[in-house]
Amino acid sequence: MKKNILITGGAGFIGSHLVRLFVNKYPDYRIINLDKLTYAGNLTNLKDLENSPNYVFEKVDICDFSAVQTVFAKYSIDGIIHLAAESHVDRSIKDPFSFARTNILGTLSLLQAAKEAWQTFDGKLFYHVSTDEVYGSLGKEGFFTETTPYQPHSPYSASKASSDHFVRAFHDTYGLPTVISNCSNNYGPYQFPEKLIPLFINNIINNKPLPVYGKGENVRDWLYVVDHARAIDVIFHSGKIGETYNIGGFNEWKNIDLIRLMIKVTDILLGRPEGTSEKLITFVTDRAGHDLRYAIDSNKLKNELGWEPSLQFEEGIEKTVRWYLDNSEWLNSVTSGAYQEYYKNYYSKI
Ligand code: NAD
Ligand code: DAU
Repeated sequence: MKKNILITGGAGFIGSHLVRLFVNKYPDYRIINLDKLTYAGNLTNLKDLENSPNYVFEKVDICDFSAVQTVFAKYSIDGIIHLAAESHVDRSIKDPFSFARTNILGTLSLLQAAKEAWQTFDGKLFYHVSTDEVYGSLGKEGFFTETTPYQPHSPYSASKASSDHFVRAFHDTYGLPTVISNCSNNYGPYQFPEKLIPLFINNIINNKPLPVYGKGENVRDWLYVVDHARAIDVIFHSGKIGETYNIGGFNEWKNIDLIRLMIKVTDILLGRPEGTSEKLITFVTDRAGHDLRYAIDSNKLKNELGWEPSLQFEEGIEKTVRWYLDNSEWLNSVTSGAYQEYYKNYYSKI
């Protein structure tokens, strides 16, 4: 094998798309997927790769430093793409400790293991996948650029901001070759149905309420997950060490407009009369500390590395709804057991 690449969080939503892209595109790389398999990680997301000769899976918690060291000793790792994280803002409001543990201490454990394992930093790279939420919230105008000061508001974004700082500290202090990207909201197949788009598709299918936080006026900048994976590929291979790249599709949507679009597309594909599921819209208490607007300026990535999103949003949403409808087995399996327990009280109250 030409290179051993460690991808953390490869059984999750974005990670599984990235693992698939790398395993198929780079047959001479060995891709080691390191994942704890939390509620959000699922090996069925990668069923098609099970027998690929250049793919291996290691069930490891990134917070378990000695287990991480063992993985570094077992494979001669050339590059790390670190995605493993607790990723859902609402869960971080309920349980901030687990976010600090995984996102901060887990990242530190990987940084330290890489620093110790790599005798020389030549040809090595620690790529940290982060979020635009570290920049805080925008008003009606403007964009986040790579130089926007960090101003996280949720425990999730605070933990991601802290992990970004640790990555930069390892670069500045020890010379560890690092790169960071901060991406906007992703959507697409295999996203766990707790995030807005898959949660609402699942609820429309099952005629359940669609809980819109506040007035639905918050704005998010949506990117198809495969385009995020393509951007990571470009940055991993051509990005400059020590740099940060913002990733986004210049695709802002007010939540309520996006929800109406999802309802329209899903009703059509389910063969229901147009507008049937509008009645499911339920305005609920706003998320605490809810950031008003995110919008990413990804011109640095476009101008320096030539990346651009490949998919228009309307096409992406239709593709995504179709995927959830065609993969009811996957959807039913991830929404059984603990998932039902998690949402039981919630839906009885709204
Ligand atoms: P996800 O929740 O779908 O997947 C996270 C994965 O990490 C799961 O497979 C889980 O099992 C694994 N994991 C969690 N804790 C772990 C631990 N202690 N040890 C090992 N593995 C562990 O998340 P996602 O949406 O795919 O996000 C992936 C990364 O991208 C995260 O770092 C997130 O902050 C970042 N990000 C996400 C988005 C988005 O819109 N989803 C946007 C920008 C950045
Ligand atoms: O911006 C990147 C971030 O996007 C990632 O770093 C996070 O991992 C990812 O979860 C996502 O965070 P958001 O909080 O923006 O995504 P979420 O899907 O939870 O919510 C999107 C918007 O929809 C947000 O304004 C809150 C709103 N919302 C969400 C849910 C789950 C609702 O109105 N109702 C809901 O039930």
